[in-house]
Amino acid sequence: MDRRTIGPFQVNPIGLGCMGLSAFYGPPADHAQAIRLIHEAVDLGVDHFDTAELYGRNEALLGEALQGRRDKVRIATKFGPKYTFDDKGNRTGASVDGSPANMRRAVENSLRFLRTDVIDLYYLHRLDPGTPVEETVGAMGELVAEGKVRAIGLSEVSGATFAKANAVHPVAAVQSEYSIFSRDVETVLLDHLRTAGATLVAYSPLGRGMLTGAFTRDQKPGGQGEFRSGEMQPRWAEGAYEANLALVDEIKAVAKEAGGTPGQVALAWVLSRGGDIVTIPGTTKLANLKSNLGASKLVLAEEHIRRLEPLADQVRGDRYNATGMAAINR
Ligand code: ATR
Repeated sequence: MDRRTIGPFQVNPIGLGCMGLSAFYGPPADHAQAIRLIHEAVDLGVDHFDTAELYGRNEALLGEALQGRRDKVRIATKFGPKYTFDDKGNRTGASVDGSPANMRRAVENSLRFLRTDVIDLYYLHRLDPGTPVEETVGAMGELVAEGKVRAIGLSEVSGATFAKANAVHPVAAVQSEYSIFSRDVETVLLDHLRTAGATLVAYSPLGRGMLTGAFTRDQKPGGQGEFRSGEMQPRWAEGAYEANLALVDEIKAVAKEAGGTPGQVALAWVLSRGGDIVTIPGTTKLANLKSNLGASKLVLAEEHIRRLEPLADQVRGDRYNATGMAAINR
């Protein structure tokens, strides 16, 4: 694999998004299997692991798995969104708190759960409309000065917000959704990152699994703890889902010609968009992890890229529901 830069360090272009091991995509993975997957990922050369305070016991899982392997990898985590609860302890929703006080609370927890004394890349997970980004990033810069964090990042921000933040302290990376189906960053962000020499960390490069061809009309994700529902994610709503699966057929056709799987085409496409982009596909399975890492060897022909070009505009449904959409690209 070639190496790509994030601020002060370099990583392999394909890292591992760990969220799905603990949250949002159904029940958490079996603990022992999750630990084994992370070990195998390190053995396979994965050196960029992404987690967040919001992902349940995910930081603690990663911290446990990386004991004795910490020197081989970079760890990225995030703060900001917090769940809100009623007085009986029921979860009522989430809010974002980008205040320096919340950051101080969160970073100490993350360091403890991750069993490390430094976080390589620390992100504000979503912009807090109630706290100027300059104030948040100023406080994050203090963590760098104190040696608790190596580099700082933002997630799902607009180019204008990135530029304001970057004027206060260098922002090494922005993490946003980017895939054949989700290309907003190309208009709202990428130029600003390139002017500043910052990296795009592309999350959900597989369209939360949809682009791999693993899901069908009959095999749709669902059940407890599943975030890919029409209510949370309009692309998975009845009607939109079937229409979007029809677009995946074109990715499958390209994959056949290119000599890869649809998932590998999706990852190779993201990596082909620039040497300043890295990606963090998520998986809970060794076979899928190996397949995803294999994407670094797949080179798409111009003809293939041309055929994938119109798909994003044809996708039905927003990336998130109205609440989620209000929190991104701002
Ligand atoms: P996110 O960044 O939100 O994790 P993603 O990387 O676009 O989203 O996609 C993750 C989803 O794709 C997961 O549901 C994962 O399921 P498994 O845990 O079963 O692997 C699925 N996925 C990842 N790699 C895959 C592959 N090579 N083939 C099929 N499904 C895959």
